[in-house]
Amino acid sequence: MFDVATTLAQLSTEEKIRLLCGKDAWHLHGIERLGIPAITLTDGPHGVRLSESQALDGSAKPATVFPVEAAMAASWNPDLLEQVAAAIGEECQSMDVGVLLGPGVNGKRTPLGGRNFEYFSEDPFLSGAMASAFVRGLQSRGVGACLKHFAGNEQETRRFLVNAEIDERTLQELYIEPFAKVIRENPPWTMMGAYNAVNGVYACQSSDLLHRILREQLSFDGLIMSDWVAVKDKAASHINGLDLEMPGPGERDAELHTALADGRLSEAELNNRASRVLTLINQVMDQNRTVTVEWPAHHELATQLAAESTVLLKNESHQLPLSPNQRLAVIGDFAQNPRFQGGGSSHMTPRQLNTALSAIGQRTEVIFAEGYTETRVSQEQLDAAVQAATEADRVVLLTGTTDSMESEGFDRADMKLAPDHLMLISAVADANPNITLVLHTGSAIETRQFEHQVPAMLQAWLSGEGGGEALARVLFGEANPSGKLSETFPVRLEHNPTFETFPGTKTTVSYQEGLFTGYRYYDTKALPVQYPFGHGLSYSQFTLADLTYHPEARQVSFSITNQGPAEGAEVVQLYIHDEASTYRRPVHELKAFRKIRLVPGEKRTVNLQLDAHAFAYFVPHLERFAEESGRFELRLGFSSRDIRQTRWISIESDTDVRLLPTLDDTVHDWLADSRTAPILQNELDRLQFTEANPMYGIALGFPIPQLIQFIPHMGYSEQDARDVLDTLEQQWQQIKTLD
Ligand code: BGC
Repeated sequence: MFDVATTLAQLSTEEKIRLLCGKDAWHLHGIERLGIPAITLTDGPHGVRLSESQALDGSAKPATVFPVEAAMAASWNPDLLEQVAAAIGEECQSMDVGVLLGPGVNGKRTPLGGRNFEYFSEDPFLSGAMASAFVRGLQSRGVGACLKHFAGNEQETRRFLVNAEIDERTLQELYIEPFAKVIRENPPWTMMGAYNAVNGVYACQSSDLLHRILREQLSFDGLIMSDWVAVKDKAASHINGLDLEMPGPGERDAELHTALADGRLSEAELNNRASRVLTLINQVMDQNRTVTVEWPAHHELATQLAAESTVLLKNESHQLPLSPNQRLAVIGDFAQNPRFQGGGSSHMTPRQLNTALSAIGQRTEVIFAEGYTETRVSQEQLDAAVQAATEADRVVLLTGTTDSMESEGFDRADMKLAPDHLMLISAVADANPNITLVLHTGSAIETRQFEHQVPAMLQAWLSGEGGGEALARVLFGEANPSGKLSETFPVRLEHNPTFETFPGTKTTVSYQEGLFTGYRYYDTKALPVQYPFGHGLSYSQFTLADLTYHPEARQVSFSITNQGPAEGAEVVQLYIHDEASTYRRPVHELKAFRKIRLVPGEKRTVNLQLDAHAFAYFVPHLERFAEESGRFELRLGFSSRDIRQTRWISIESDTDVRLLPTLDDTVHDWLADSRTAPILQNELDRLQFTEANPMYGIALGFPIPQLIQFIPHMGYSEQDARDVLDTLEQQWQQIKTLD
């Protein structure tokens, strides 16, 4: 530990500038003469990926590989995630890692996003809640989190260059909100700026993102670093709020010396950025601990999370759970070569990798056929798979995406499984209709090609090193599935609202769909979906009752009963529907959830706390989230399409979110607003200009200046026109001062 201000005062300008860039790929510069160490940062987010060399693609030291973020979110269990992140924190401490580069909370505009597996959810509330739990757990062990990638990094295509055009309300409600929720609840030690530009300025040099939003609006006080090689103009980055360029070694210090000399970067700004770097080093030194990692316990935690995140998409005629007495065929290379993580910077080396084949083999006798190698199915593989299926009572077929289909660095080409895999599924299902399909994908895929042939399906994500054992537990009913989709599975890619605009042009991607992404779009549009957001079956059945709203505490209570035969957990989701709003809103939005475990027959009363944003939305002209008075329907259920209980409530707010019509707005705008309507109506009455006038309907569309110009052409005098204008101008000024 050292005193940051005193240390800063002892540094030369060179030393301060040097601090603003990494020493190498994974370390910061220390200051040897003052005994300040070079701390280590390394990738996550689903475990520690400590590189064994300086190479960015170097092999990583073995560590516990947990399920990827999309799966973490599908557990809908922030408490479990907090334990997982604490375990990751302990592993970081054991490897002397001070900051873990995660979690990532970017959005999912489209299922094609190459890094969707590395992000939590299409819903900002779920993403924010899970990320918050992650940061709480990690930092409880004295290791800093790095929330990434701020902001607008929702695609891999041309990610270093693309300019994301996002309107302010969409940016705030969907893409900033997960970051904001974490900062409000569990401020991360650090943040990472994105590669792309947002509204014309690269994220790592955007004063709008770094200064206006992060520092001023969200009061973020931690360190802001760049993504790896994201700094284009070093001086502009540091002037506009970036503290640390990564990776090092810093060979662009001269650019900052010049900026200091010509006054673009002030001494005060340099001190501010350098002291944030020193503060981080100080925090890491202060929290450095000696720990003994309980590797078997961490492996079990990874297995538990994998089981909790597995989503039972369908289970017709009780295909599952399996019984050990049935003859079982297991088909698919993923059973022996698990697809347990995604490609790119999060690629880890597992400590102890289970295979599904061995885990299932410990429970029953298995006829195995590999079925495919990567995306290809040979004739022999097909024949052997069909043969295995024919000999068995039940079939479990593992399929999914490969690293060549889904990875950091590029977006997916489509939403389908590989053609050979589709052919394999069809042939195997023909041979034996008692088939359970296990999907190892990092994000939504199209299932319509095989829905009719497959009675049971599990979404098993990229499930980490315990995924094989977790799958066996779920298949045999030792773990009752309780995962829920963290993203919608649309019927087909064409239904996605970004279908025509993703991934944009060479230079630009326009977020034209605005707020209408994921279920916000599909549900508002009442489109059929294959599997809705929040969906997931159980081997048990749950019922809800007694939905009540407690306005003083802003709480919702309900009772839940397990009416099925097995102990299990259900995720109760609360969506809020705004009956009428000044600005358009999606039909409903997730605002609270809770995972509840119950034994058969058990009934429990549960309270959900609503936060300050529950009824609010972002009002650009007020530059903040605001609530509007009105009626809201509370929708409580088991997915966005499975609402079991509803209740209408009223909310009173002092805020008027309406933007006062101006003297350039239309007659219709004036008549639609209760503040301006009486003024204009009075004038129209005076002129006896009513609906009976054939020009009335057309005049509604006239802006006020055009109305004034038209008045003399509608049978009135020039004087009438001047009088109307004078009255409108005077009275508008009066209400403007009150507004
Ligand atoms: C990724 C980051 C990662 C960094 C360091 C970048 O390419 O976008 O998420 O933390 O590399 O590996």
